Amino acid sequence: MIEACIFDLDGVVVDTAKYHFIAWKALAEELGFVFTLEDNERLKGVSRKQSLEILLEIGKKQFSETEKLAMAEKKNTLYVTYIEKMTPEEILPGVEKFLQELKSNEIKTALGSASKNAPMILERIGLTGFFDVIVDGNSISEAKPNPEVFLKGAEKLGVQPEHCVVFEDAIAGVEAARNAKMYCVGIGQPENLGLADFVIPGFDGFTLEKLKKELTASFRFPKGKV
Ligand code: BG6
Ligand code: MG
Repeated sequence: MIEACIFDLDGVVVDTAKYHFIAWKALAEELGFVFTLEDNERLKGVSRKQSLEILLEIGKKQFSETEKLAMAEKKNTLYVTYIEKMTPEEILPGVEKFLQELKSNEIKTALGSASKNAPMILERIGLTGFFDVIVDGNSISEAKPNPEVFLKGAEKLGVQPEHCVVFEDAIAGVEAARNAKMYCVGIGQPENLGLADFVIPGFDGFTLEKLKKELTASFRFPKGKV
């Protein structure tokens, strides 16, 4: 039985990776090295602090903790100037319709995001009210692949992990869902998200019926369980 769906935000509900990229790239340029789109892939699903560590590793730079804190702050200030301007038009295709379908079928919903900016993004795109529970980077202490963010979501919803489905676009996030012992639908390319139960390119045309069908067909689940 599926009782709850837990959604990652960045890369699942909205494409904010492009804004993260602009802001990290600006910081890299300031520090004197090039940060590519390929490098940016490594930051998906990763916390702000860890993202900076990866960036500095790419640029082979070392700084004190205080300096790093200031850099993360600076990157975030630039990032916020972009997300402040977001509108409901930036909700990825099919997301709102799927959320509505879940609601009318009394399936609970939660947001499970590593981002400390999640509340602002949800406000800007007008989706705050769609989620029964919001767990974001402000309320967790362990980053994905630690399952904390999803377990907290399930706990707040009052649903057992085995009745939850997580939607994730990042490898660390899929691992976190697995570590939480939840079902997981990957959003993106199957070759990157092999640990997910199944992968879809996005929510366009995706329905609750398809979710149930795919999970039932998945080798992990005996037929009839979902
Ligand atoms: C994740 C993004 O959702 O949130 C990461 O995929 C990002 O790229 C992380 O680093 C933290 O986000 P923020 O908004 O708190 O810097
Ligand atoms: Mg993501």
